[in-house]
Amino acid sequence: MELKNLAVRPITGREELRLFNQLPYVLNGELADDLAQGRRRPEWMWAALQGDRLLARAAWWSRPGDDTPFLLDVLDIDDNLPDPGRLTIGVRLLHTAMAAALPAGSPRPDYSRFIPPDWRENGLTRRAVQDRMTILERTGARLFVERLRLEWRPGTPIPPPGRRLVFRPVQDAGELLTLMTVVLEGTLDAHSRDELTRMSAREAAVRHYEGELARYTSPKDWWQIATLPAGKPAGFVIPARNDYNPIIAYLAVLPEHRGNGYINDILAEGTRILARHEVPRIRASTDLDNTPMANAFRRAGYVNFEREIKMTWS
Ligand SMILES: CC(C)(COP(=O)(O)OP(=O)(O)OC[C@H]1O[C@@H](n2cnc3c(N)ncnc32)[C@H](O)[C@@H]1OP(=O)(O)O)[C@@H](O)C(=O)NCCC(=O)NCCS
Repeated sequence: MELKNLAVRPITGREELRLFNQLPYVLNGELADDLAQGRRRPEWMWAALQGDRLLARAAWWSRPGDDTPFLLDVLDIDDNLPDPGRLTIGVRLLHTAMAAALPAGSPRPDYSRFIPPDWRENGLTRRAVQDRMTILERTGARLFVERLRLEWRPGTPIPPPGRRLVFRPVQDAGELLTLMTVVLEGTLDAHSRDELTRMSAREAAVRHYEGELARYTSPKDWWQIATLPAGKPAGFVIPARNDYNPIIAYLAVLPEHRGNGYINDILAEGTRILARHEVPRIRASTDLDNTPMANAFRRAGYVNFEREIKMTWS
């Protein structure tokens, strides 16, 4: 495939979003608001163009207020282009964009892509996902984890509160951090397991708390500790609202209480708290391999509407 006249550059701004959205992806509808809210910047949104035709694109997202990209969550190529040209274009685009958009010497942000739950069964989807993974691998990335994206929809029944557990708000950050540290023992979550190879459970809990949970602006009294009737903590649930949706941000059962199905009561309570606010949906996600958690979401009527592939350079 002819790669002459290929322009690789960032978009100039909002006025080029139509051009940037020539390739379809589930996040296209969010890009304008992300730009307006400072979660994206034109210099983090790169296009490979032949004239007015978009052949490939890449974009990073950041946490609001951050000065550096946090996640590479858009990487597309025109899937109708012949092989191997489309992969070459993708690699060239990504190399150029990474060199320009990322601070030299700092770790490269992870990659995330939302894909249909049955992506492996459909030949076209499988090729599209694998092409993007190949491009990323050629720039040094590797598969980190495959996750399930889940959604509870209004009308889905929530089991009434049981008698085995009692719920009360989290007292303070210190109490939650202590429990978040304890539940990392034996976790099946890939991200947590990876962090535990590099830091203590306490450090991983603090990172998770400060990097995510503490940033939610939804009420902290939604956060609940599940205790046995005598008051001893058995687990917790953190319902919240992020910039896009009401979510079950985190939930866990203490190691000595696992295997009793407590997760069902805890997930039901978190769902009940959000459902009380007449939300249009509740979103959640978990690793494909976190079988007890995935099963609990399925039993609670959460629909697996998408999967997510995460890749890393670290
Ligand atoms: C995922 C989790 C909440 C499951 O809670 P739970 O109340 O023990 O779930 P269940 O009682 O339904 O467990 C079902 C089965 O999975 C097993 N199981 C649960 N957690 C397990 C773990 N971390 N490792 C291995 N097996 C586990 C149980 O022993 C039980 O086995 P059995 O059917 O042979 O008796 C709990 O493991 C946990 O807190 N993990 C760490 C935090 C986490 O991953 N949260 C989800 C983030 S999205």
